[in-house]
Amino acid sequence: MPQTRRDFLKQVGIAGGAGVMLHSMGALGLSPAAAAETPPFTPPKASELARHGRKRVLILGGGIAGLTTAYELGKAGYRCTILEARDRPGGRSWSVRGGTTETDLKGQTQRARFSRGQYMNAGPARLPQHHVTVDYCRELGVELETFVNQNADAYLYRTGAHNLAGQPIRHRAAKADVYGYVSELLAKATDQGALDTYLTQADKDALIALLRNFGSLGAKVAGDPSASYRYTGSGRRGYAIEPGVTAGEPIAPYALSDVLASGIGNYFSFELGFDQAMQMLQPVGGMDRIAYAFERAIGRDKIEYGAEVSAFGNTSTGVEVEYSTGGRRTKKATADFLVCTIPPHLAATIPSNLPPEVVSALAYARPSNAGKIGLEYDRRWWELDHKIYGGITNADNELGNVWYPSSGFHGERGTMIGYYNTGSNATTYGTLTPRGRLAKALDQGAAIHGDVYKQDLRSSFSVDWASTKYSEGAWVGWPSRTDGNYDRLLEPSGNVYFAGDHLSYTIAWQHGAMVSARAAVESLHTRVVSA
Ligand code: FAD
Ligand code: ALA
Repeated sequence: MPQTRRDFLKQVGIAGGAGVMLHSMGALGLSPAAAAETPPFTPPKASELARHGRKRVLILGGGIAGLTTAYELGKAGYRCTILEARDRPGGRSWSVRGGTTETDLKGQTQRARFSRGQYMNAGPARLPQHHVTVDYCRELGVELETFVNQNADAYLYRTGAHNLAGQPIRHRAAKADVYGYVSELLAKATDQGALDTYLTQADKDALIALLRNFGSLGAKVAGDPSASYRYTGSGRRGYAIEPGVTAGEPIAPYALSDVLASGIGNYFSFELGFDQAMQMLQPVGGMDRIAYAFERAIGRDKIEYGAEVSAFGNTSTGVEVEYSTGGRRTKKATADFLVCTIPPHLAATIPSNLPPEVVSALAYARPSNAGKIGLEYDRRWWELDHKIYGGITNADNELGNVWYPSSGFHGERGTMIGYYNTGSNATTYGTLTPRGRLAKALDQGAAIHGDVYKQDLRSSFSVDWASTKYSEGAWVGWPSRTDGNYDRLLEPSGNVYFAGDHLSYTIAWQHGAMVSARAAVESLHTRVVSA
């Protein structure tokens, strides 16, 4: 019987999983060609290791890179032990809940008093659909829900010397006006011949049709170029009184000069980013669900918490690590191999017998800062008073970004991220005490949302990543990736391998930690089975 295309697709779907199905659809010309591919990875298999003995691997750091390494190597039969300085898995992938206690490097201790079920993701909080993080969630049974990264009803807030300063502007209004005016100008220029060098008459007609739709423009007015293709506002930007039994009253647009001077259009590109475009995802109940799912899959007995590594290096037969668990005596562990996932700027400071060029490559990575505050309210005023259900308000004051919770809509209470900032804004907040951060965040948040921002607050917890022990930064950047330092760390130094998001082109994403760990796993396994 001849096989139909449908039969064929059904079979490869069953035999090979979704990835194979998608490839085959592409080959038959049935799927969108530009679907993103997960970086290739061939997991080591137990059958391949059988002849070579179950090698021992020490993994320094139980963040996402260390956990991924132990998980993939463990599946193939490697005997892995993770040494993790903190008393929990996940590293920077950290969800703060009621009872979480943290003392920062300045000696300031905070104890979170969030209610049962409330949490803040102090580090990672959103996942693009194409990240391998999502594949691990599927494999490990971590439930996902929508993360609202863009919300037309959230605000833009701009300071400065212009007429739109100091007022919250809904994203929808900003977009309507920016798209409208830019479209009007381009339509006029096209219509009046300014682009004739580049466009045929057919191109011009098509472009003007596109711009009228994109910008919500009026029609051409015969004999009056300046009255043609005008943007005069539209319902897209919102209503003073919404349409009901009677017609709504749209809000008039801002003036063109004010729109340009305010810079409110300069934020939209954020949501076009490959990694930031809706739709995005989050684990139900907190990002740390991923780390704990890894812990379960790896085996709790394979992880030593509270184990602060104080020295490591190669020996004639493998590797050796010294670490302390709070007691007086330093402990020692040996193994065939070691995978170091400690952030590079910290790993560089730990005594080792690594060659100087490897240590300087680690030290070459430059940490940068980020900060967040979680605010738990007894009343979800952003939903009740502002009609905002998830999403982000972007502010050009030191707050940076305010995140409304993506779940728990209409619940009794909710926890928002009162600021998420980076660079100098993170430093400004980070130098304050937790109490000072809260006071400043409430003042700056109230300037956008009104006094409601200061009411019904139940508890707060703030994180300054630069002064967080075992991280000392949010993520790192490389001054250059072409001068040999980055590449040096992609190779093992003797029996010591390196992994972490810093060894990927997706720094500041768990995806980066995972693909880097997979690369180290592949490299180590290939060496073992080729011996
Ligand atoms: P780490 O998590 O830093 O792991 C290193 C581990 O080494 C830690 O557990 C640490 O405790 C341990 N360690 C350090 N010193 C020692 C020592 N001496 N002895 C033993 N152990 C030690 N990613 C996303 O996917 N989505 C996001 O939305 C996102 N947002 C982020 C926002 C912020 C504010 C931050 C800080 C990060 C964000 N990330 C996000 C990035 C993500 O957190 C990282 O890419 C990822 O967690 C890095 O994992 P890692 O294992 O490479 O490093
Ligand atoms: N990847 C991090 C975020 O999306 C920096 O916030």
